[in-house]
Amino acid sequence: MRSILVIGGAGFIGSHTVVELVKHGYRPVVVDNFSNSHEAVIASLNSLLGQKIICYTQDYQDIAKLEKIIKKERIEGIIHFAAYKAVGESVEQPLKYYDNNVGGFVRLLQTALSNDVQHMIFSSSAAVYGNPPVAFVTETVPCNPTSPYGWSKYMDEIVLRDACLANSRLHGTALRYFNVVGAHESAQIGELAKGKPQNLLPIIAQAIVSKIPLTVFGSDYPTPDGTCLRDYVHVVDLAQAHVAALNTSFANKHGLHKTYNIGTGKPTSVMELISTFERVNNIKVPYRIGPRRAGDPVTYYASAAKANKALGWKATKTIEDAVRDAWNWQQSITSIWASRSNGEISNVKHV
Ligand code: WQD
Repeated sequence: MRSILVIGGAGFIGSHTVVELVKHGYRPVVVDNFSNSHEAVIASLNSLLGQKIICYTQDYQDIAKLEKIIKKERIEGIIHFAAYKAVGESVEQPLKYYDNNVGGFVRLLQTALSNDVQHMIFSSSAAVYGNPPVAFVTETVPCNPTSPYGWSKYMDEIVLRDACLANSRLHGTALRYFNVVGAHESAQIGELAKGKPQNLLPIIAQAIVSKIPLTVFGSDYPTPDGTCLRDYVHVVDLAQAHVAALNTSFANKHGLHKTYNIGTGKPTSVMELISTFERVNNIKVPYRIGPRRAGDPVTYYASAAKANKALGWKATKTIEDAVRDAWNWQQSITSIWASRSNGEISNVKHV
């Protein structure tokens, strides 16, 4: 059973990936400093998986401790989720983003190489495309990020590529996520970053709970219903893409750097997401139409043909699945977090 270090494994995508790693015969070892996630997620994973997930509470950039974990847990591969990801904050504090997202990743790669960890799966983002010149985006579309966050992800892809080209034992894969949505069907894990929700679907759910209407940022775009189009990919599909990437990396063992779009290939508008949410959950979403948000691309969605061919991965869940799972998760949050906010996280190992 291969041990995989999951950095940021208590986060939204990280926790769903831990579930899929266990389901597919891997042994996940989580490292998380819980700066943007909750320790109670580990207890939820234990309950969901019926086993204790190994978790080290620490900053992955404490290299001495990280090396101890890599040696002790016999780590063969790393999935790196931990990064700052607030686009607006990155514009205000670019150096914080470059230091953490790029500097941290360089140090992680150096640690992987010096400990002969040969497989790295990197969490990239469709943000590397910025405002793409075409709606249907393939991996060959020029990358021109529009925020320091997007640039930090693109720089990391280049760092990974060059590290792989210089070290034939290192196999690197970058996954460019489109808009990640939904939650686990059990409603035991889901999106729960610290602070206000940043993205559309959790904002919709919160608008219902708070009864404060969300603002639709513009309805005068040149699209069928006037609102922006995006590629909303279910978090469980995305988690499975990481397993597919790991399987391929272990099987192919070629030192080249590989990059894949991870999306559904289907564009959905803001109003379509809202109306689907209302129909599937039989509930009214309070919203108002407001002005456009600066910097919003009108439309982009993924060509995932490359991932389908090379990784054998394809999204299978629908927007209906995503809005149902997101609402079930939103409704369960209070009860789960209240009962697990202490006590059941004794399994968290401290190095
Ligand atoms: C989606 C659509 C908004 C909120 C961002 C990051 C990207 C990636 C995914 C990390 C847009 C509209 C939103 C609201 C609205 N993150 N909207 N009212 O901007 O496509 O991508 O998250 O990798 O890097 O840029 O996602 O959820 O913010 O917006 O109308 O209150 O919903 O205008 O059209 P976005 P989003």
